[in-house]
Amino acid sequence: MEVCLDKLVIKGGKRLKGTVEISGSKNAALPIMAATLLASGEHHLSRVPHLRDVMTMGRLLADLGAGFHLEKNKAILDCSRINNYEAPYELVSTMRASVLVLGPLVARLGKAKVSLPGGCAIGARPINLHLMGLEKMGATINLESGYVLVKAKKLKGATIYFDVPTVTGTENIMMAATLADGKTLIENAAREPEVVDLADALISMGAKIKGAGNSTIEIEGVSKLKPLRHTIIPDRIEAGTFMAIAGITGGDITIKKCKADHLDAIINKLKDSGIIFRISGKSIRVIGPKKLMPVNTTTMPYPGFPTDMQAQLMSLVSIADGTSIISETIFENRLMHVAELRRMGADINIDGGTATIRGVEKLKGAPLMATDLRASASLIVAALAAEGETTIKRIYHLDRGYENIEEKLIKVGADIKREKE
Ligand code: EPU
Repeated sequence: MEVCLDKLVIKGGKRLKGTVEISGSKNAALPIMAATLLASGEHHLSRVPHLRDVMTMGRLLADLGAGFHLEKNKAILDCSRINNYEAPYELVSTMRASVLVLGPLVARLGKAKVSLPGGCAIGARPINLHLMGLEKMGATINLESGYVLVKAKKLKGATIYFDVPTVTGTENIMMAATLADGKTLIENAAREPEVVDLADALISMGAKIKGAGNSTIEIEGVSKLKPLRHTIIPDRIEAGTFMAIAGITGGDITIKKCKADHLDAIINKLKDSGIIFRISGKSIRVIGPKKLMPVNTTTMPYPGFPTDMQAQLMSLVSIADGTSIISETIFENRLMHVAELRRMGADINIDGGTATIRGVEKLKGAPLMATDLRASASLIVAALAAEGETTIKRIYHLDRGYENIEEKLIKVGADIKREKE
């Protein structure tokens, strides 16, 4: 897949005002696309964001024999002729979420061969819990030249306990269990809204699932599923990122088509920083204060403060009036943005996974390099408030997860453009 080497050029310091419409959630769209492997026929998905990760998942499904067509945020997938069971290194190495085809492939074809993801920019990120769950359901697991080969003539229901709640692990086992013999219980399951959206999509296919959104999920296997028709939930991390942008620019942005109840932890933390929220149905008006206040937080699985908003929050409090402490507990290498923020004048010290951020009066524009998706978002948050010009290279990371971000920012008054590197 072509990697776009564009850079963003941002002139900061403007108060951003206006409205932004939130796109469908990347992390809900990816597992639901994988779930279409579970049933023959034409699946219809709405509010699918045009993102590099979505196209990668589409390409992976096409490699497996599926039809995939995406137009104007509507995707049609046809999984009638699945004739391949391998997720190759080339795709898994560009997108870890490729492992989401594991559960559905074993359930549908009785086998799957998936490249082991290995480390990535934010940490080691093993899939041992996904494999443990499938093994408990009667699958055999073999490792061969960097690939994991999972086989099971027919998966059997089992009780699976995760010692850490894993989002894609919960999703993989939930998908596998829909077609297994008997009942599966997932204990200490991930409770993220994206897990609930996948469960809703599976239920629309005829799956019997209870308890998604709680720590225990019960799945009663059925013999066959039908194609799905589903609308993806709004992206809570995109919404949170725009809230941080409104906050740091002292702006006034109305975020439309979002779900406030998915954003409790983010809104509560941002309120502590002095940002004002006016929630009205699916719209949230976000008003930035004259001076931000420091906040402390520790990233946690849902409903805690999400790791996917940690970097953006750090940019926000880098100009707060006082010292903030932010601890990252989910991924061991997710403070890569700190070095870049320091180049803009931020005063941040790291000790293990904990960052101490002493607020400075102003950030200053600088040439920067994006390292992963959310780090890229945090650099945009910082650049929009910084004095002068910031260039952000390697923004292909950003294109994995934010739909039309420049257009949305220009609409609220940002001075941002994309240039060839
Ligand atoms: N873990 C294990 N073994 C496993 C699986 C996970 O030890 O088999 C550990 C991980 O190393 C980590 C913790 O469990 O310390 C939680 O990881 P999780 O499995 O929940 O992460 P994930 O499913 O790989 C999803 C999102 C990430 C998001 C995390 C945490 C998708 C496609 N990805 O990843 O999103 O950060 O959950 O909420 O849903 C992003 O969008 O930028 C992104 C990285």
